[in-house]
Amino acid sequence: MKTLDTDRLHLRPVTLNDAAALHQVVYSDQEVCRFFCGQTRSLDEVRERMVYRSFQLRDSPLGFLAIVRKVDTALIGLVALQFYIARWVRWEEAPDEPTARIEVELSYALGRDFWRHSYAAEACRAVIDYAFSDLRLPRIANSVAGANTASIALMRSLGFRLSMNQHPDHQTAIVGVLHNPVLSELAP
Ligand SMILES: CC(C)(COP(=O)(O)OP(=O)(O)OC[C@H]1O[C@@H](n2cnc3c(N)ncnc32)[C@H](O)[C@@H]1OP(=O)(O)O)[C@@H](O)C(=O)NCCC(=O)NCCS
Repeated sequence: MKTLDTDRLHLRPVTLNDAAALHQVVYSDQEVCRFFCGQTRSLDEVRERMVYRSFQLRDSPLGFLAIVRKVDTALIGLVALQFYIARWVRWEEAPDEPTARIEVELSYALGRDFWRHSYAAEACRAVIDYAFSDLRLPRIANSVAGANTASIALMRSLGFRLSMNQHPDHQTAIVGVLHNPVLSELAP
């Protein structure tokens, strides 16, 4: 995945050297981890994760980007594009679909000190532009806990269409879908 720039942010692939800063701002804070990765992680676990993530990124158009604030080069969080098999999601338009779809999701987590400054929206817009213009993905599809007010508000602000997950085991989850406007225009 390539490096991206916005007015205030520099987004670049994560490396093992980011482990300590990411542990401090993201992975050691239960409030940040709650909906992002479930539980806090030790520094060693974050190091392992970053080794995996940086190998995962090699030669891949998807992956994890560190969000670096330009004004002071502070690492303030993560944003990612990842594919997954959406077997825990049933879509509003096809609740009885018998097979699971392969989807790409947009993930994000910022350190608590950096919330509510529009940093996540700014970073996500750059990644969405990359996903739709460079990769020509047809859509981005996220599934988030219904209690994750901030993530739902962020998706709404980014233009995702929100609906309830129709899967009988995940009825409190919200799914957000953002279609590639260029490909939608080209569709017959
Ligand atoms: C979700 C998260 C990345 C949002 O980051 P952020 O930088 O605070 O978001 P922004 O400042 O860009 O806000 C984007 C929009 O969401 C709204 N918003 C953000 N947090 C909100 C909250 N707690 N309650 C209501 N609205 C909220 C903002 O007002 C803004 O809306 P607007 O465009 O209409 O003004 C951040 O809360 C976070 O890291 N949470 C923990 C990790 C997490 O849950 N990740 C998602 C897992 S699914």
